Amino acid sequence: PPGRHIFALWLLVAAGGCSGSQSALDPAGREAGDIAFLFWTMVAGGGVLWAAVAGIAVYATRLRPAEHPEWVGRGLILGGGVALPLLVLTGLLVPGLAMLPSLRTPGGPLRIAVSGEQWWWRVAYHRPGGEPVASANEIRLPRGEQVELVLTSPDVIHSFWIPSLAGKVDMIPGRTNRLVLEPTRTGTFRGACAEFCGTAHALMAFAVVVVEPAEFDAWLDREAAPAAAPSEGPAARGAELFDQLGCGGCHTIRGTRAQGIIGPDLTHIASRRSLGAGILPNDHASLVRWIAATSEVKPEVRMPAFGMLPAAELEALASYLGSLR
Ligand code: CUA
Repeated sequence: PPGRHIFALWLLVAAGGCSGSQSALDPAGREAGDIAFLFWTMVAGGGVLWAAVAGIAVYATRLRPAEHPEWVGRGLILGGGVALPLLVLTGLLVPGLAMLPSLRTPGGPLRIAVSGEQWWWRVAYHRPGGEPVASANEIRLPRGEQVELVLTSPDVIHSFWIPSLAGKVDMIPGRTNRLVLEPTRTGTFRGACAEFCGTAHALMAFAVVVVEPAEFDAWLDREAAPAAAPSEGPAARGAELFDQLGCGGCHTIRGTRAQGIIGPDLTHIASRRSLGAGILPNDHASLVRWIAATSEVKPEVRMPAFGMLPAAELEALASYLGSLR
């Protein structure tokens, strides 16, 4: 029967959301832990309330008016319809209210500015006393440390959401929102845009890599360094092409003439997990595909496709970008 199929499908969808790298119910951060606790408290409280009211309703249908005084029926209505919900719902309000102060948590020493843009993520790490380190489309975090994320948008409303780590926060043009989070275990998690922001909204994701603090500091030092120039081979040819084609008008590769700020910073693009903001795996073939046919991979993306280039030049560009570790 269709009813059973729909129930099975619902169960599958519901169970699918319970674990994995993008689940609010498999928390890897303090804030996501609070949200999961609140969720299960609500499910339990709602379940108790539902069972009690349903039980009272079934009991009431079996009563014979002739055999019971009038106050029994009235008592059931007042008890099941007013007193019980009042008690349970008030009880459920308490854990939610108790969590409110934690929303005002002060951030740690590390601040990360993230800007949601159609359809990618501009990222900059601000360390106390250091220059900001620009990156894109991937976020690294130290385990066990409070990090303040400063969230903005230059175009339309996006929403920043890493379900495994914290609740979502909108990125609104003309406004600066903040999110403080603390990852509690290492791993790679998935973040996504959670507000419809145009054609490629569904193609706007990012990886979040949580590592031990020492590893994070070492990584940030590497990320802050300029790109190493390839000395020979296709990668060196690709570096020349990158310069001649004017790619630097939109992209920055620190240590080169490329200083554009319209598109993602590519200084260490080869060290990231994905291309095109979580869309393609970061390998040579995908780099070639992305450069040659950007809009086939991500409709309406602002980067023009370079499919008119000879295959050898596409290969050289991909080799160069693939060398930027
Ligand atoms: Cu950005 Cu949806």
